[in-house]
Parts: sequence; structure tokens; C-alpha cells
Amino acid sequence: MCGIVGYVGPQMGSKALGVVLEGLARLEYRGYDSAGVALVTADGLQTEKRAGKLENLRSALDSHPMEESRTGIGHTRWATHGGPTDGNAHPHRGGEGDRLALIHNGIIENFHSLKKALLAEGVEFVSETDTEVAAKLVGREYDKLGDLTAAMLAVVNQLQGAFTLLAVHADSPGVVVGARRNSPLVVGLGDGENFLGSDVAAFIGHTRHALELGQDQIVTITPDSYSVIGFDGAPAQGKAYEVTWDASAAEKGGYSTFMEKEIDEQPHAVGDTLLGRTKDDGELVLDELRISEDQLRNVDRITFVACGTAAYSALVAKYAIEHWTRIPVEVSLAHEFRYCDPIVDERTLVVSVSQSGETMDTLMAVKHAKELGALTLSICNTHGSTIPRESDAVLYTHAGPEVAVASTKAFLAQITAAYLLGLYLAQLRGETFGGDPKELMTELREMPEKVQEVLDRMDRVVEMANFMADTRSVLFLGRHVGFPIALEGALKLKEIAYIHAEGFAAGELKHGPIALIEPGQPVFIIVPAPESPHDLHKKVVSNIQEIRARGARTLVIAHDGDEDVVPFANEVIRVPHCSPMLAPLLTVVPLQVFALHLALAKGLDPDQPRNLAKSVTVE
Ligand code: M6R
Repeated sequence: MCGIVGYVGPQMGSKALGVVLEGLARLEYRGYDSAGVALVTADGLQTEKRAGKLENLRSALDSHPMEESRTGIGHTRWATHGGPTDGNAHPHRGGEGDRLALIHNGIIENFHSLKKALLAEGVEFVSETDTEVAAKLVGREYDKLGDLTAAMLAVVNQLQGAFTLLAVHADSPGVVVGARRNSPLVVGLGDGENFLGSDVAAFIGHTRHALELGQDQIVTITPDSYSVIGFDGAPAQGKAYEVTWDASAAEKGGYSTFMEKEIDEQPHAVGDTLLGRTKDDGELVLDELRISEDQLRNVDRITFVACGTAAYSALVAKYAIEHWTRIPVEVSLAHEFRYCDPIVDERTLVVSVSQSGETMDTLMAVKHAKELGALTLSICNTHGSTIPRESDAVLYTHAGPEVAVASTKAFLAQITAAYLLGLYLAQLRGETFGGDPKELMTELREMPEKVQEVLDRMDRVVEMANFMADTRSVLFLGRHVGFPIALEGALKLKEIAYIHAEGFAAGELKHGPIALIEPGQPVFIIVPAPESPHDLHKKVVSNIQEIRARGARTLVIAHDGDEDVVPFANEVIRVPHCSPMLAPLLTVVPLQVFALHLALAKGLDPDQPRNLAKSVTVE
């Protein structure tokens, strides 16, 4: 995915470059392979672009300053078509005299055939990107029509795939035009100035008034107006809303990395996600779901679709929701869902989980579920993003903006929202097999404090991470709700510390993975609460003994007061006691802190790990 910014300011203004660079800095988490800007100046169109992080573009601009301007667009890229080079960086240019500049997020799937036709007409290309095809097409239409909105409209219906496009033209100062299909674009409404962005972070330093665009819409902004039309040319409306957080929430606020800040914000992420969702007597109220109680009572199967960390939160949800509601729950990786002929009908609730709300694999799974007649519910952290809009209902998590590529606070908020959903369904159906929903809610409300307690105890984990900077491989074991946490612990370590790591269900150990254990092999073990049903605790303690006997270095995450693990642990990391089902909110925290500090000890940037982007808007 890429980050996109557009700006138009007052006639006498000249701050376009500053606004665009500030927006790109806030969006750099979306992609950081290359960055570029285009300004409409008194001398015509000027562009500058560079491979690498935004600072490379800033250095280039310091050496070759651009003219003053009130109209600009900017882009930060996560490469899909064509490597991360200066030439492939956006903006791309088109039209007579290359007087149009265009930036793009997404993939134009039919770009080969469009490019072939343009090449046959003698059009020359200077990059390997799909984007340049759109630049050439919109540029050519502008030359015919003399109007940027009309030129965009003439092109969008020729394009297949997912895209957000922004364009400016040398002959249209004070105008930026954007178009979106299956890819995000929001409008920021200022006073005598207007903005476009992939998300509100692009302009949050200037305005909190935002406008959500619908699917297949084109927006034209000038300093004091905006207009929206559909891809059919008919006038359309955006949906206005106020952003509830401010610029400081999207800044590091004294932390050296966003990931550290976001880990520390987790008590709030859990607490805010619970806020306003219960009556005084503890009864859950989720009116916002927009699915009738009858429809929910009728649900006989739940399928979660999600990717990466979000999918691990769904795995936690499976254990909790099945236990509390007795409804069968399955979890499908969103990119596999469509290809396994899913068994889904109008009594199936398909729950998507996504921090960004724009992961393409998840979006496509939701669309497929709808085609099959399922009820679709989105658990999402990003207001106005595509997945909640495409779903029948949404349960927003309130983790605030998550900037670091590695998901942390959104994960805790997703688990919290899934618990809410499970308890709400149990309440609605009068199901008490897994305990009284009201009592469970009372305990859930105590969790933010307990998450804070875990955070306050992390000194030893930081020391362990510093000491283990040369480690080449780490294994993670867990059972029941500890299993997804083992998977998440391994994912965190892979993605930000580049260490080979694997998570296993502890019971699976003797079916193969135990062969990996050799003297000194570090293994994290997530131990369930001692009172867990089915002797789970005892079984995991046995697993620790089995690997310890073979020389493993056992790093044990256990509840306060659990002394059974002590004889077999090289390290014991304690979490406050809580009931077995809620433990993931606590046990994952040391694993996040460990991965963060191991990455820092290796001199890596945990916020922007190599090859990754915050959300993956391509399939
Ligand atoms: O925005 P989403 O929650 O849909 O993103 C899903 C995954 O791409 C995401 O969780 C990814 O695995 C993170 N980098 C994990 O830290």
C-alpha cells in the first residue's frame, strides 16, 4: 500500500510543499520504498521523487528547492509493479508536454493491455509501473477536454483493479482531483484550504473535519469547495464526520519509536474499546451493530476472516466465542477463504477483523461472503475505511491510530471487541455454559489495569532481549488461547527483528517440532492459568519438562502464584492472575516487548521493517 496526500490552499498561499511533506511523514508507515511530490507553480508543473525513505526526498529538495505553490500532491510508495527506484517512484507524468502529474495507490490489473495499446500509438514510457499508464491516459483526456475532473471520469471506467488516483495539471492551479475504487481516500475540509489523504493522518495537523467518500467516486477540491461525482458522472455525496483524535495521537510524543508508544497505550486501547458498551448493571448494549437481535439469534455458525495478527486475534475469539455461546466458530485466513468453497449461508455470521479496514484479502473475503448471502460484521480500528463500509455491521475498536507496522495495541483491542461480541451473543441467547456474561464483563473491565501491571514489570524482559541480540532462532509454545499467542509472539519477532521464529500448539511438540530442540534453544512457553479446565496447566508444565530435559532454555510466561513452573524455568515472566479465557490480553505483552527490544538491540527500525507495509492493499 502507499500513502497519498493532496492539498490546495488560498490564492496567495505558498505552503503546499510543507503540508504535503508533513502529510507524507505521517503516512510513511504505509510504504517507504520511495517518495515524491508534484507542485503546480507559476512556472508550470514541478516534480521531485527519490527511492528510499522520505528523508532522501527531503535531501533532494534541500539541494534543488522547488518554486512556491498552493497546489500539490505527494506519495510514499510500497512497490508492487517495478522495483523501488527513482524512476518508478510517483508522481508519473502524462499529456502534452508532460503537464499532468498523477499518483496512485493500488494495482491496475489491466495495465498490460492498456499499455500495449498506448505503445502502439507511439506513447513513450519511462517507468515499469502500472501507474504511468493511468498518468498517460488522464493526461491525454485532459488535452482533449481541458478539465481535470472530466479527464479523470473519462479514464476511471477503463481501469480494472483497486486504485486511488490523485492528479494535478499545470493549467489547473488550485485544483486537485482524486478517484477511488476499492482503495481508501478521505477529504479534509479546512478553512480556505482543502486536503486529500489515504487516511486522516495526512491532514490531522490542519483539520479534524473529514469527509468519507463512497466506492467508485471522484472528488474535486479547490481552496474553498469540494464536489463529488460517481464513476457514472452523476452527482454524489460524501459522508462528513469529525475525527476524534488529534495530531499528538499520531506522533511519537517523547517515545523513540511508535511501536514502544503503542505498546504502552494498550491499557487505553482495551479500556476505550470497552467504553460505553455496557449498562450500569453490566448488561451489554451493542446497538451500533445494526444487525437485529432476531438475526443474531438465528446465527448458527460464525466464520472469522482476517490476516496476520488480526487472524491470531480471531483464533483467540474462536476459543472464547465457542465456549461462551456454543456456536461453532471457524477462522479462515482471508486470502484462503474464497478458494476453499466456503460453506456459508444466510445463517452464517462472517466476522472480518482488520486494523486498517483496507487489507485487500480481507475485503475480498467479505465481498465473497456477502455474495454467498452471509451476514457480515467488521471488527475494525479505522473509521470510514473500506471493509466496515462494505459490511452489514461494524464494531469499532478504539485503539487510536496505529502507526508502527507491527500491530500491538490494535491486537489487544481486536481481542477485546471479539470478547464483547461473544458475550453479547451469549447474553442474547441466554447461554451460560461458559459463565454468566455479566460476571465475565466485570472481569473484562478490570483488564486495562492488569495490562498496565504487566507493562510495569517489563525490566527483566528488556534485559533478556538485550542479552539475546545474537539469537538466531526462537520457538514459542502455547495451548488453548495460548496457542494464538505463541503464533503472535513468533510473528512479532520475525517481522521486526528478522529472527527465525515459530509458534506451535504445545501438544503438537512431540509430533515433530521437538526434534528442533538442542542445547541452548530458547523457547517461550505461555502457561495457562492453574485452574484452567481439562488439566491444561499440568499438561503445559509437562511440555516444559520435556523440552528442558533436552537442553532448551525455557522462558516461561506464568500467572502470579504459579509455583509449579519454577523448577523447570530458566526465566519466569509473571502476569497478574485472570481467568483462562482473558489471559491473551496479558500474556502477549511480554512477547511484544521482547521483540521490540531485540530489534532495537540489533540496531533495527521496528517501526518500518524491511519489505513490509502497514496494510496490504494488494492481493
Ligand atoms: O490492517 P489489518 O489488521 O487488516 O492487517 C492485517 C495484517 O496485515 C497485519 O496484522 C500484519 O500481520 C501486521 N504487520 C502484524 O504485525
